[in-house]
Amino acid sequence: MAAQIIDGKLISSQIKDELREKTALLKEKGIEVTLAVILVGEDPASQVYVRNKKKACEYIGFRSLSYELPAETTQEELLKLIDVLNGRKDVDGILVQMPLPKHIDEKTVINAISPSKDVDGFHPMNVGALCIGEKGFVSCTPAGVIQLLKRGCDGKINIAGKECVIVGRSNIVGKPMSLLMLRENATVTIAHSRTKNLEEVCKRADILIAAVGKAGMITKDHVKEGAVVIDVGINRGEDGKLCGDVKFDEVSEIASAITPVPGGVGPMTIAMLMNNCYEAALMHMES
Ligand code: GUN
Repeated sequence: MAAQIIDGKLISSQIKDELREKTALLKEKGIEVTLAVILVGEDPASQVYVRNKKKACEYIGFRSLSYELPAETTQEELLKLIDVLNGRKDVDGILVQMPLPKHIDEKTVINAISPSKDVDGFHPMNVGALCIGEKGFVSCTPAGVIQLLKRGCDGKINIAGKECVIVGRSNIVGKPMSLLMLRENATVTIAHSRTKNLEEVCKRADILIAAVGKAGMITKDHVKEGAVVIDVGINRGEDGKLCGDVKFDEVSEIASAITPVPGGVGPMTIAMLMNNCYEAALMHMES
């Protein structure tokens, strides 16, 4: 039987609509959620991402402050701007779009953002909080995967006690994904480029999460009958079309549920960023 499709476009719309309602209630109390978005340089993909983030803010009713800086901006200038935004009481979240030009050190920039405004969840304080199960901002893409699992298939996917295999160990997806699945009481394996017998390891999974960035590398030979398959990959195939890490056509014949690319994990990232901004505003209200 063909797999059920987990519709990320629909679930992300639901999350954004919930936020829109909650944001209207905050506005009635005179509170405005504000996200500062910083883009350095003219990378076309980054320009699209930033535009979409600003559009989502507008839809939900957040204020967005936009800083589009020239590629020659120095690290010092960028750090100065972050420092100013860190100090502003009317700014809840700060997002510096990556990648940055080569002369700017991304780690230094991430570390400069106040952890309480780090809505990307990239700051070591937030990563550490996730690691030890404390409150903090969680990286948006893995947080979105958890929402897909919880809200997809009419809420019928159970995570607790399941074998979960994550392929990929990046700081932004694979590692936080593993910690979130552990938090949900899955039994977690992280596979990567040096994993031996990848097919066998993946075949153990009740929930298989592919986050490698290699078009179509997960085939039917990696998937157990009835597994839930989440495809985090966004790649350009040979035909120029967007495609995931998973060979959708053949894997969807075996899996019980699967996310498509596009329209699966992708739309969830911005929805979770918006959720983090809302949470940041609540936190700042209390402090
Ligand atoms: N570049 C690609 N993805 C992301 C993201 O999630 N956040 C930021 N800040 N930059 C990115």
